Amino acid sequence: MAGMNHENNIIPKVVSKIGIIGGGISGIAAAKQLSHHNPIIFEATDSIGGVWKHCTYNSTKLQSQRGDYQFTDFPWPDRDNPDFPTHVEVLEYIQSYAKHFDLMKNIKFNSKVVELKFIGNQECDSSKVGLPSDVDDYGTLLPGHPVWEVAVQTNDSNSIQWYSFEFVVVCIGKYGDVPKMPMFPRKKGPEIFNGKLLHSLDYCKLDQQATNQLLKNKKVVVVGYKKSGIDLALECAMANQGPEGQPCTILVRTLHWTIPHYWIWGLPFFLFYSTRSSQLLHERPNQGLLRALLCFMLSPMRHGISKFIESYLLWKLPLEKYGLKPEHPFLEDYASCQMAIMPENFFSEVEKGKICFKKTSSKWWFWDGGIEFEDKTKVEADVVIFATGFEGKKKLKSIIPEPFCSFLEYPSGIMPLYRGTIHPLIPNMAFVGYVESVSNLHSSEIRSMWLSGLVDNKFKLPKVESMLSQTLEEMEVMKRTTRFYKRHCIATYSINHTDEICKDLGWSAWRKKNLISEAFGPYSSQDYEKED
Ligand SMILES: Cc1cc2nc3c(=O)[nH]c(=O)nc-3n(C[C@H](O)[C@H](O)[C@H](O)COP(=O)(O)OP(=O)(O)OC[C@H]3O[C@@H](n4cnc5c(N)ncnc54)[C@H](O)[C@@H]3O)c2cc1C
Ligand SMILES: NC(=O)c1ccc[n+]([C@@H]2O[C@H](COP(=O)([O-])OP(=O)(O)OC[C@H]3O[C@@H](n4cnc5c(N)ncnc54)[C@H](OP(=O)(O)O)[C@@H]3O)[C@@H](O)[C@H]2O)c1
Repeated sequence: MAGMNHENNIIPKVVSKIGIIGGGISGIAAAKQLSHHNPIIFEATDSIGGVWKHCTYNSTKLQSQRGDYQFTDFPWPDRDNPDFPTHVEVLEYIQSYAKHFDLMKNIKFNSKVVELKFIGNQECDSSKVGLPSDVDDYGTLLPGHPVWEVAVQTNDSNSIQWYSFEFVVVCIGKYGDVPKMPMFPRKKGPEIFNGKLLHSLDYCKLDQQATNQLLKNKKVVVVGYKKSGIDLALECAMANQGPEGQPCTILVRTLHWTIPHYWIWGLPFFLFYSTRSSQLLHERPNQGLLRALLCFMLSPMRHGISKFIESYLLWKLPLEKYGLKPEHPFLEDYASCQMAIMPENFFSEVEKGKICFKKTSSKWWFWDGGIEFEDKTKVEADVVIFATGFEGKKKLKSIIPEPFCSFLEYPSGIMPLYRGTIHPLIPNMAFVGYVESVSNLHSSEIRSMWLSGLVDNKFKLPKVESMLSQTLEEMEVMKRTTRFYKRHCIATYSINHTDEICKDLGWSAWRKKNLISEAFGPYSSQDYEKED
């Protein structure tokens, strides 16, 4: 496929200066904020919404509070409703947002981007571009001529249509699309298993009747003890009520903290991590000596808060009874955006024996009747569901060409994204939806606002070297905060991160009405309505 445009002498179409890849929350947020440039959005499927359309179970609900998972200029119809919206409601919300702001007209559905080609520009020599030692300035975002060519495959034909753009925004998502599959020793993989095996992504494609049929009165093993694993085990338990019902076993490799709701010993959860005063306790990038010293002195408080939350969780949930108490502090799960909400009736199903747990290392494999472990113990299974997550990086690597592909995670194994958006070594391209926080909708929207300011020359990017060193510092902070730093989450210094975005945009960083709410009020998407 490479080079197809030139080989076939097909001139790439020029339809807009800006191309956006992906029509999930991030792509839609970017499209809205860049709408004055009339961008084209390529969406591989027939719908917007991304994971909310293609990656949900019957029981999936929003985990963030709806007030946080809200576009700044488009409130939820019933925004004070404390219940968590279902995946259907989230999708409806995204769709009505796109319709309200007339974004649908720019979306090309069933249009999968299969290749990107860098055609360079006058400012950077394409043979040198990308190499840190050779790049000084990032360059102009809209230079007046195409920089990227984009190959798009449509569902109704196998032919490729090429488009060219001055600037490309990649929003193809960290989750969904490409399942993460465990590896097995030879002759011990799924091929020898007599039962049914599927990944959570396949499960999402089934309707309620089909899932019930799949699970009812079956011995099911769910691999993975994070949000998908927990939700699927509960769906399995619900399908196995009655005397014929079989227990569902969750395979747990790493224990993680889960919370039952957003209240801890009667206090709202936001008090602990989502106010300026609470984030003062946490390390942030480029914080200076004085703040570093303060942070060090306040570290007992930081650990105390984590312990305080753990004490509530251990009291409220029977974690110790079932050997589910994690060894790492709660803070590390929070700081890596891994904190899952435990569904209300999960532990009542555990008590009934409908859900049980099997702890394991990575060393487990199949036998014809189920799963076997290092210590030779076995679990029988009719159905095995891999709730093992997704390969977001593989998606990116399949379309980003060399040499940029090798720089994707340079130099430290996480994408170095300046302001969570610009890879200093990849010209004329932005990435939205890769650095997570408590509400990923808010993260994508605020970064899209920043991107719009950047494209419109409201501010300039620093030198490449300076962007790289800032992103490196951010990674060092993440590494010091949580062993799960590869999730790339900024939850413990999200306010500071957004302060920097506000400063770039020339907005006031302090968004509250008075000092008390500035210090102790929760910071959420509603604080960041656009200032023009
Ligand atoms: C089940 C589930 C529940 C979640 N719940 C929450 C929550 O409660 N709170 C929270 O903050 N986060 C949650 N998340 C995280 C979630 O990923 C983000 O909130 C957000 O929806 C991600 O949006 P996105 O646009 O970045 O990615 P996606 O939703 O993955 O969208 C990417 C889009 O790009 C398209 N695409 C992919 N490849 C191509 C290509 N080559 N060409 C063209 N199009 C392409 C896909 O079809 C998709 O539509 C959840 C994730 C999952 C999986
Ligand atoms: N809002 C909702 O209701 C909802 C529902 C589902 C998912 N989500 C979101 O979707 C995203 C993906 O979640 P996810 O749960 O699908 O994936 P995930 O968070 O990546 O979790 C994958 C799980 O599989 C385990 N695993 C992976 N490989 C394994 C192996 N070889 N052996 C044993 N265990 C293995 C992991 O263990 P380790 O921890 O040891 O790696 C982990 O427990 C998250 O952001 C999540 O919050 C949200």
